[in-house]
Formats: sequence, C-alpha cells, structure tokens
Amino acid sequence: MQARFAAAPNVAGSIDRSVVVSMASKTDLCSWPEPVVSVQSLSDSGAVAVPGKYVKPLSDRPVLIGGGGGRGLRIPVVDLRGGRAAAAQAVSEACREWGFFQVVNHGVPAELVEAVRRAWRGFFRLPLEAKNAYANSPRTYEGFGSRLGVEKDAPLDWGDYYFLNLKPASPGEYWPALPDELRAVTEEYGAEVQRLCELLLGALSAGLGLEESFLREAFGGAEGVGTCMRVNLYPKCPQPELTLGLSPHSDPGGVTVLLADDHVDGLQVRRHSEWVPVRPIAGAFIVNIADQIQVISNAMYKSVEHRVIVNEKEERLSVAFFYNPGGDVSIGPAKEVISEKHVALYPTNTFNEYRKYVREKGPRGKSQVESLKF
Ligand code: OGA
Ligand code: NI
Repeated sequence: MQARFAAAPNVAGSIDRSVVVSMASKTDLCSWPEPVVSVQSLSDSGAVAVPGKYVKPLSDRPVLIGGGGGRGLRIPVVDLRGGRAAAAQAVSEACREWGFFQVVNHGVPAELVEAVRRAWRGFFRLPLEAKNAYANSPRTYEGFGSRLGVEKDAPLDWGDYYFLNLKPASPGEYWPALPDELRAVTEEYGAEVQRLCELLLGALSAGLGLEESFLREAFGGAEGVGTCMRVNLYPKCPQPELTLGLSPHSDPGGVTVLLADDHVDGLQVRRHSEWVPVRPIAGAFIVNIADQIQVISNAMYKSVEHRVIVNEKEERLSVAFFYNPGGDVSIGPAKEVISEKHVALYPTNTFNEYRKYVREKGPRGKSQVESLKF
C-alpha cells in the first residue's frame, strides 16, 4: 500500500507537490476535476446554444411539448388541518402509493416563506465575484456551486445552487453576508420546516404500525438528526430541449421538503416509465421520501426519482430542505419490519458512508439505493 501512495520524489530529491495535490484531491474530494463555470453567467452571456457539456444523450432529454407527459396525472395532496390520525393515514397512503405529495396547511408562516425566497433571490442576483467568494468544494459541498459529482468530463446540469448545513450549522464563513437578513430568515425557516418534518416522520412511523417517535429516534433523536438545505437557481436556457436543470436522482437522506418556485414549473417525478410534471399549489410544500426511509422501512416506503427541466423564458428558484439521519448514525432495515416473510433487503451503513457515493457520482437515478440490495 505504501508504494501506491508514496509521493514521487522529483529530480532534486524533494517531494513533487503537483503529484501530492492531485492524489489528495482524488482521495479526499478536495477539489473539482475541472474549473467550475456558473450557469447564470453562461445564461447572461446571451449564448444561443447550450455548450456541449450540458447536452444530454438523446434518451435522457426531456419532452417539452404538451406539458412533458404524465397524462394529466397529479401527485397527491395532503391537508394537515384534519388532525394527527387523519394526517398519518393520508401521509402513509401518499407515500406507499407515490412517495411524493404536496402538503397544505402545514403551519409554516407564509411571510417567512416569502422572506426566504426574497433573501435567496437577492443572493443569486449579486455579482458573480460576490457569489464566488463562497465557491464550494466537493468535500462538504457547503457554499455556492454549479456542479454535483467529481467525475471529469461528466455531463453537467443547467443550474447553480447554494448548499448549507443547518443542523449542525455550517460555520459562519459559509453563510452569505448579503442580503443582511439571509441568515436569520434561513435559520428560522429551517427550524419551522424541521418541525414539519418531525410531524411527517411521526405519520410515516405510525403508517408502519410503529411508535410515532420511531423514525426520529432511528435518525439519531431530537439532538442527533441532521438538516441541510440546497437552494437551486435554474437560469433561463437557450435550448431547454437538450439539457436538464437537475438530472434524475433520488434524494439520499430521510425526507425532503421542497419550496418550489411560485410561478415557474420544472419539477418532474418518475411514475413507472413516465415523467409526471408537478404543478405546485400556492402555499404548498412538495414532500418526498428519500433513500434512508426506504432502507429503514425495508422498502415499505420507496424513494422516488425526480428531475428538473428548464425553459427559455424564465429562471426558476427552489429551496430544498433535507431532513437526514445524523452522519454517524447507522441505518439499516428496522428489526420491527423484518420477518421470515420480509427478510432484510439492505445492509447497514452510516449516512456519511452512504452520502459519499452521491457526492462523488452526482445525480444517478436510484442507482445507489438499488445497488445496496443484498
Ligand atoms: C433537489 C431537487 C428539485 C427542484 O434539490 O434535490 O430535487 O425542483 N430539487 O429544484
Ligand atoms: Ni432531489
């Protein structure tokens, strides 16, 4: 092993730094394999063609005519006004049937939601140099970025994003200093949406016939769970039929609560072999099950693939909130859902181990959770 990783001495006998750096970046995910270009800057440059790196193979390109397919199908809507028992029933039904739903009367104040949208739009409107002060690396992804995955020459998606950990929170230097109110409103929003996620996890636990606290405890308990956020900005695209804002993927964590753009659509959900467009209801959040819930529930609930299409006329902003197990928490099928008839389908991994794959490969459908299967 030693030989493989020893730094090559140069002619003068000292260590060749260029070799050390490139090996470090390969093993520690410290840097991107090629310079990162902000998609907003490409869009603003007025180019009439999408650069080759963003062009998807024919089979992956979206169909944009007639709303993109799905034959008018709609993801379910869950109203949380009806009390705990009704919510548990509706949530677990929506999750078994679709794995994706809209939630209304969720209790997160509308003014706070608007303040979050305003703050992040403000951030993305800053000059590129101001945003690049927060340029991220694949080690933690915290900060401003335009790329997921570290494979050189991999096709790229038409979007910029900002990634932040909320719980435990990213260190201060990762938080944009402008707009002024961004950090305060984002933290308040994070606390509210975390509460909503805990309610949803209670419903999902009850839907498995388990204690309401079951999934939350499995994720590490009130103090152990992790939350993070990705704010996505999909700029206008000159050839939306050739690319995607975000390639098909399932989310790696527990549950995702998405605040979609209030007037530009783009999210699509895979239903069997079709892509069903999501039309957000005003004031609703879009919720989906992610891979760790599929693993713990031994596939009673399944994570669902989704993707984002872009358009020529308007940019789109979305705020994805991820409620995850703590990084060091081991996640495997719960013994309560395993029996002779329902044997464990997945091994146990910590969430950090699991997430590493996604961080290296970028969006790859449901390949990771499927490849875990015994
Ligand atoms: C995500 C995601 C969807 C969207 O950030 O994981 O799926 O509409 N976003 O931006
Ligand atoms: Ni997603």
